[in-house]
Amino acid sequence: MDVLERESRMVAIATKAVREKIVPIGKSSQYYHSDLLKATTHGGLAIALKSVEPRHLEKVAYDSGIEVAKLVAYRIRENLLEYYELLRKAEVPVSDLYSIEVDISPDGVVLLEVSKDAGEDFRTILQKHSEYAPRHISEVIHAIKGVLSNPSLGIDTNPANFCLTKGDGNGWTDLHFVDLFPPMFLNKDGVYLVGFPQPECRLAEFNKNRYYTDKGALRILRFNLMRINSWFEEEFSNALQNSLDTCHARELIDFFMSLPDQKALTLLRDGKKEDECSLKMERDQFQIDDLREIAFRILPNNPELLDELFKLTMMNFLIPEEERKEKLQTFKRLLISEVCKL
Ligand SMILES: Nc1ncnc2c1ncn2[C@@H]1O[C@H](COP(=O)(O)OP(=O)(O)O)[C@@H](O)[C@H]1O
Ligand SMILES: [Mg+2]
Repeated sequence: MDVLERESRMVAIATKAVREKIVPIGKSSQYYHSDLLKATTHGGLAIALKSVEPRHLEKVAYDSGIEVAKLVAYRIRENLLEYYELLRKAEVPVSDLYSIEVDISPDGVVLLEVSKDAGEDFRTILQKHSEYAPRHISEVIHAIKGVLSNPSLGIDTNPANFCLTKGDGNGWTDLHFVDLFPPMFLNKDGVYLVGFPQPECRLAEFNKNRYYTDKGALRILRFNLMRINSWFEEEFSNALQNSLDTCHARELIDFFMSLPDQKALTLLRDGKKEDECSLKMERDQFQIDDLREIAFRILPNNPELLDELFKLTMMNFLIPEEERKEKLQTFKRLLISEVCKL
């Protein structure tokens, strides 16, 4: 299915779900797990139409047939709904969910999430307006507190997963979390869900630490802020101190100071390029946070290149292990050539 076809399919499904005519605003954008189309209803309701895992579902339908793709889509739907409720119970301000539809036709299965348009995402806002960082970073930390203290709930804290709407003045208000995929909660079979399909044990365990623990989730938030603007590292520390009790904030700051990128920083300052390079070479595909943070120390003011490096270390479970390893090698080669230029 091409992009245009998918768009009109999204509008048709949403029209049925909301029982009102939907008017798209602009073109749909493709993201990591989703395609997003912003729209309004004739009644003036601003909604976000999100096709969840479109490429994955297409592949399943192609490889194993529509019936299997249908089952997969229903399984994901169930998990999305459960995750949404768990996040709400944990008092995370999740954007209102109107409906999740599974649309089956002879040429494909579409899983469509229909939710309230929560505005502009925090990453995009910060790229344009760094002055909004102090206030809203603290808000994000407040918003996820219930997850940080709940070991059976995970969250992807990338700032792109939080949206704000434009306020009356020139500021932004009304923070909402928007990314329900992959759902991350301890399910009734005792599995800590981290992806769909759930990856093999070692990868699953590793991601459980990244998304289900306070240190892991805040580390992801911190890194994703720093890579937008190196100044946000300090803003993040300030926000931690403002939002959490002193003891907890101290423990987290000590944790961040103990990470390998601090060693990289010292080695770079002392001109020990070779030691710095071996620090990277020692790390495998499971240590992507270490690698990303080391990359940041080498290129603190190059968000474009950091973005490229970030993509090379994305844990896409659906690509074969060999290909992931190849990407990791490219990442290391690229970084080492950057160290040599210093
Ligand atoms: N309800 C929403 N309102 C406004 N923007 C949204 C909404 N949901 C998603 N977005 C935008 O779409 C992007 C991708 O959606 P997301 O659910 O995070 O999917 P992915 O898993 O592909 O990252 C978000 O980063 C945000 O910019
Ligand atoms: Mg996202």
